[in-house]
Amino acid sequence: MLKRYIILCAAAALLLTGCGRKDEDTVKNIKIGVTLYDQYDTFISELMNVFTSCASEKEEESGIAINIETLDASGSQTTQNEQVQMLIEKGCDVICVNLVDRTEPTTITDMAEKNGVPIIFFNRELVSEDLERWDQLYYVGADAFESGVLQGELAASAFKNNPAMDKNGDGICQYIVLEGEAGHQDSIVRTEYSINTLMEQGVEVEKLGYAIANWNRAQAQTKTATMFAQYGNRIELILANNDDMALGAIDELKAAELPREMWPVVIGIDGTDVGLEAVKKGEMTATVYNDKEGQAKGMLELAYSIVTGNPLSEEFELQDGKYIRLPYQIVTKDNLEEIQK
Ligand code: BGC
Repeated sequence: MLKRYIILCAAAALLLTGCGRKDEDTVKNIKIGVTLYDQYDTFISELMNVFTSCASEKEEESGIAINIETLDASGSQTTQNEQVQMLIEKGCDVICVNLVDRTEPTTITDMAEKNGVPIIFFNRELVSEDLERWDQLYYVGADAFESGVLQGELAASAFKNNPAMDKNGDGICQYIVLEGEAGHQDSIVRTEYSINTLMEQGVEVEKLGYAIANWNRAQAQTKTATMFAQYGNRIELILANNDDMALGAIDELKAAELPREMWPVVIGIDGTDVGLEAVKKGEMTATVYNDKEGQAKGMLELAYSIVTGNPLSEEFELQDGKYIRLPYQIVTKDNLEEIQK
């Protein structure tokens, strides 16, 4: 009889604590698995550095050991699916997934649900229907729309306040765009909204060309060289979907030995360490800060709260029970120090 009672109590406790959740008082360690779409992506690697230091701080503060195992999917969704399986088998309490293909989360979500291991997707946003498939699926990131609008505002104010930017003096802003990956939410939305905002702010625009450079600095340099061969000094503005591609464009301006006063205005998004340095040097006119600190900390706090059952730190809001989104911020020389702090 007593044995039956104990089993019943244990089952009830399991139900109460929920999937992936350990008993708050007995948690001595947390094991977090992470799989990255590409560990060499500048923004992702900087975000992961912050994530690791947030985990060390949390360990000290809570007295709970936090063990992180990070894997690189090197651009293969099949590899990433296998990695998630392996991380589940290794006993991870929660897994953070930076999806390779954001339209293919089903294999991962099915495995996670079957094994009761919560998943926090981050940076590469899946469609909301996919996130609804199970109540232990979460997303941490930022709103791509906002970054596009802010980039457009920066470009509009550069064009309005700096007559020299209009090289041919026709009152029209001739521009090119360097885009990230074809199917990534941040590429599609950033491009659309930066241009729309530029026009809404009253700047007449002419698109000379665009190229997909997959978030990558070297690819962006090559693509910029091709567009320069075609449009030369007509280019007045280069909008890049991220800082690494803006830096690739700047590499090309330098390689082509274009005199500094002839450079088009270059605007990025991210505010990576290298990106901010370029703003400081005046090579990149401005960028939009993609809050890697906030996203990394939000992800760590969410993982901690899921596993221990403690409420989520008040610093973060869990929207619709699933989303943590951090705001973007414009960066120019004027507020650079504040951002670099
Ligand atoms: C960042 C890019 C990064 C990409 C990776 C974007 O949010 O702005 O720099 O390459 O995420 O998914």
